[in-house]
Amino acid sequence: MGRIPQHFIDELIARADIVEVIGSRVQLKKAGREWKACCPFHNEKTPSFWVSPDKQFYHCFGCGKHGTVLGFLMDHDHLAFPEAVEELAARLGLEVPREGGGEAVAPRAEEPLYELMARVARYYAECLGREPRARDYLARRGLTAATLERFEIGYAVNSWNDVLKRFGGDDLARRRLAETGLVIERERSQTQFSERHYDRFRDRIMFPIRDTRGRVIAFGGRVIDAGEPKYLNSPETVLFHKGRELYGLYETRRARSNLKRLVIVEGYMDAVRLHQEGIDYAVATLGTATTAEHFRRIFRLVSEVVFAFDGDRAGRAAAWRALQQALPEAREGRQIRFLFLPDGHDPDTLIAAEGREAFEARLAGALPLSEYLVRELSEQSDLAHADGRARFAESARPLYQKLPAGVYRELLLGRLAQVVGLGPERLEELWSKAPGAPAPAPAPAPPPTARAGARARLSGGRGSLVRQAIVRLVHFPAIAAEVSPAERSGLDASEEAGIALLRELLDNLREQPAQISAQVIQRWAGRDGGESLQKLLEREEVITDAAAAAGELRAALVKLADLAAERRLQALEAKSRTGPLTSDELKEFQRLMSIMSARPARHG
Ligand code: UTP
Ligand code: MN
Repeated sequence: MGRIPQHFIDELIARADIVEVIGSRVQLKKAGREWKACCPFHNEKTPSFWVSPDKQFYHCFGCGKHGTVLGFLMDHDHLAFPEAVEELAARLGLEVPREGGGEAVAPRAEEPLYELMARVARYYAECLGREPRARDYLARRGLTAATLERFEIGYAVNSWNDVLKRFGGDDLARRRLAETGLVIERERSQTQFSERHYDRFRDRIMFPIRDTRGRVIAFGGRVIDAGEPKYLNSPETVLFHKGRELYGLYETRRARSNLKRLVIVEGYMDAVRLHQEGIDYAVATLGTATTAEHFRRIFRLVSEVVFAFDGDRAGRAAAWRALQQALPEAREGRQIRFLFLPDGHDPDTLIAAEGREAFEARLAGALPLSEYLVRELSEQSDLAHADGRARFAESARPLYQKLPAGVYRELLLGRLAQVVGLGPERLEELWSKAPGAPAPAPAPAPPPTARAGARARLSGGRGSLVRQAIVRLVHFPAIAAEVSPAERSGLDASEEAGIALLRELLDNLREQPAQISAQVIQRWAGRDGGESLQKLLEREEVITDAAAAAGELRAALVKLADLAAERRLQALEAKSRTGPLTSDELKEFQRLMSIMSARPARHG
């Protein structure tokens, strides 16, 4: 049976009353706004088990058990998650919907959605033929008619309801459009609009995203020339899970029957352009980090990957993240390499400038994972001195420990030992009994670009900005909608502790709005960060007003963006003292200066 869709779990959490559900199993007594009881999970005489109707979760201060109504049913009635969902749904008189299963079997119920997506993709492609502005733009970007056809690139017209009118004839059709993310449903309160739905993609170049079987499952839409956001993507839907898909994989497999390696790039345009120039084994991650799921897919197909990252700061940070994800996958027989493009280039512009052969030569010379790791870590430490080498060893340790046992791990150990100047056995021995870290590895080294300010920041206590933002979001998840795209993207450059969780939380809530805290807690149950969210929600009692929380959230985001910009400015200043900046760096410097000087005051 298929997965239970997230929206249904959200709905259950919103509709169920935790007090009623627990109250039918445990004798609850009213205590102020909350309810208490002797804990059903451990033996006690005085009650330390609390149920909060406001937050819709329970917590035992005696044994520490806590969770949402679904978690309670699982623990108390010993149910698996789907059973707990069934139980709660039955109580509310709801039927549990199911998504399609794995890839192997075509999920019967979803077939119409795939057909709908295919028809819309064809329609977008037709519209491209009728819009000279869009055609000219793509011609200026150097794409040929054959390429446009191969990737079925199209155009969404500049209208709020073109797709809605054409494909949403009745209620059911509109619901299906909303399910695919092609149209957006307005809040019920927005009564000034006669239409409940409107088109997500307007006046954009459309890139259909296909699954490995060639079915269109989502779209990426690019503005023509300038505008925000540059790319708008389909949200997560029953068909589309961003962290799993690679753009261009279907086209790659179709082009090559004997696929040996893949080139992983960051952008739609990069993948398309590389294919056009004959590098028809290029795929793109969809503006996200490379996930473990991506790696599983990749290594099921090929044993060799080359990551091509932009030479800019964001590209180097992304490469470091990819390296960390790749480590658990690095084993003998697999080749993982990194190609850094010259400053100011991405694969699209570089292959246009240099041609296929030069690009392939660069691919052939890409840095093996082990060398990239050594290079980055050595740049952070002064290897001429013993304490620098010790620092190198300290930062290498958690990375090394992510590798699976095997020949590859042995080889890398040898290489690292060489740098540190110890025998491999000695190094491993030191690592295995390093003080204060018997079990899991400490946090990996900061991304290479954090060098300038990282150390100062750790003692600055500014992690609390991230914390302030997260606290407000878990209390009032709906305020995520008030964050502007610019405020969101200001976080991209931030490297504060916990920023990944904040970004993930914001993106999740902006794509799939949640109304109450327990929905968020349930979404993060068992995931990284889930426990922290729960704790933040319980400890902070001061926030009571959604409007104020929204303001504070946005203020915190702006400060985080400023801090990131400030740190970057300092790095550029430092660099300019040792030599001239490149023209791109200079532009960045000027841009940052103008942002910073436009701010009313410095934030401490
Ligand atoms: P880039 O900003 O590097 O764009 O984003 P690009 O691919 O070079 O695009 P062109 O050449 O300007 O047309 C890289 C990728 O990040 C995602 C997209 O997948 C994009 O291809 N992205 C970027 C978004 O999803 N949204 C954005 O607003 C920007
Ligand atoms: Mn580009």
